[in-house]
Amino acid sequence: MTSIVNTQSLKVILQPASYPIMKFNNSNWHSNDNVGFSLGNAADLGEKPLASLFKIRSLYDILNNDPYCHNGSRFRGYCKVVSCSNGENFQHQVLQLDQTHCQSDNPEFENISRILPGLPLAAHFYSDICEVVDAALFHCGLQNEPRPIQTKVHLQRLSATSECVGKASPAQPHKDNSKFLMVFVLGKSNVATVKNSLYDNKLRPIGEFELSPMQYFCLDDRRYYHHVDEVVVQEDNLIGYRDSLILEILPLSDTYAQMA
Ligand SMILES: [Fe+2]
Repeated sequence: MTSIVNTQSLKVILQPASYPIMKFNNSNWHSNDNVGFSLGNAADLGEKPLASLFKIRSLYDILNNDPYCHNGSRFRGYCKVVSCSNGENFQHQVLQLDQTHCQSDNPEFENISRILPGLPLAAHFYSDICEVVDAALFHCGLQNEPRPIQTKVHLQRLSATSECVGKASPAQPHKDNSKFLMVFVLGKSNVATVKNSLYDNKLRPIGEFELSPMQYFCLDDRRYYHHVDEVVVQEDNLIGYRDSLILEILPLSDTYAQMA
């Protein structure tokens, strides 16, 4: 695995000079004295997770409608993975019966525990999901984490037509109640530029960037707010879509502390 990122292929759109410099991938991005943010190419995570991401990409055409999206523009597949480390390697367990997702900071669903659709053809793809979660946990430097780690895995397609835009929830700067957030873009078709934006904890903008397919960003959720633009079609007569894989990573005792 290499930590060198081809920054030429990542479009960083805005970087106000008065805010902290957005650093690219380096091995200590998650430590307290570093920037808490990384951008990269999925290929840099290794051959196995890259192959799994390509296989997961084929699921998006058969995802179910998000029952909490009223205009039918959002499709989802969801599962939870719990991982334990022995200091060197992780063991992963998919929680096949738990489809609950409570995102207390989301003003659209404040303190509402949503039941999200599972993965289609679930069992067949669980090993690929675990391969990607494994790479993400190593990327986050969690191999010495003594607590079990929960990763909420969201496959999300935002689709758009000339009459209707695709919106993430919430459609405003927010946090995801996790320790680390890792987002991959896996596919995109007929959509205008979709910017991701980053803010500090006083909601001052830090930077904007656009991910191409098979690129990711990762951040320390407690140090930043984040936001993604609406998905808007480029060519009017065709459907547009953007497929992302979102990993919300949280050591489990933190989860219990939040629930108490
Ligand atoms: Fe989010």
